[in-house]
Amino acid sequence: MSLTANLRQRLQLLRIACTQRYIWKDLTALVQSHGFELRDIRANTHPLRFARDLAGAAPLASPPDFASTLGDGAVFELAPTHAWNSEPSVSEFLGELAFHTRARTIVELGCYVGWTSAHFALAQRAAGAGGRLWCLDSDERFLSAARRNLARLQLAEATTFVQGLSLDAAVLATLPQEIDLLFIDTSHEYQPTLDEIATYAPRLAPGGFILLHDTISQDGCRRALRDRWADFATLTFATEFGNGLTVLRRKS
Ligand SMILES: C[S@@+](CC[C@H](N)C(=O)[O-])C[C@H]1O[C@@H](n2cnc3c(N)ncnc32)[C@H](O)[C@@H]1O
Repeated sequence: MSLTANLRQRLQLLRIACTQRYIWKDLTALVQSHGFELRDIRANTHPLRFARDLAGAAPLASPPDFASTLGDGAVFELAPTHAWNSEPSVSEFLGELAFHTRARTIVELGCYVGWTSAHFALAQRAAGAGGRLWCLDSDERFLSAARRNLARLQLAEATTFVQGLSLDAAVLATLPQEIDLLFIDTSHEYQPTLDEIATYAPRLAPGGFILLHDTISQDGCRRALRDRWADFATLTFATEFGNGLTVLRRKS
């Protein structure tokens, strides 16, 4: 093979490696140039298990069985927007993260009809550390459905439902000042996402996390993450529909 074969792709890979920033456009071009379909890029290993195996740590305590308790998400769908439920692997990962970190104060910005919220609530109950889940949505119709869904599963007791916009002053006054786990899953637009990170990051408890959904598939989230890159230690997972989930921890 000549030295110049695949030179452009190899330079792209080198840039990704050096900057530690993937450029989705480049990655998709690379993947397609090798004859793969985009849907083939996905995680096939549970991220927490993967991290634990790498570290060789002791087995984690058993988290609740999310799938058998919450089902496959079908009852959380609300036609015609059913695609808004997070992917099962994302909700389960978030539930496990909440369980293992014993997150006492969890805030979900954009809860839709409560699919991921139910994972958080179940995780908090199973961890037995007390605490509260705060579910926010701007749409009263979705929030009512979330309230009904969590009540049906007897998971609403330690959950507070808030209607409003994530950056609205009244909402900011209502939501807790110290947050262990913040899940941002709202507009996915660049400026609002950037503002949400800037507004809520100072509320993170020591060791707290921000989870940002759709950081591969949505240009706004990807750019917002890139612009706040220097302030956080981040880890992005590919998810089964290629949407991506990023864990952000503030650098100390
Ligand atoms: C993708 S859905 C959330 C899915 C949910 N987190 C899950 O995992 O199942 C996005 C939700 O964010 C809500 N939303 C959009 N912009 C918002 C904002 N600025 N503040 C609060 N909610 C918002 C929408 O009404 C919608 O229900």
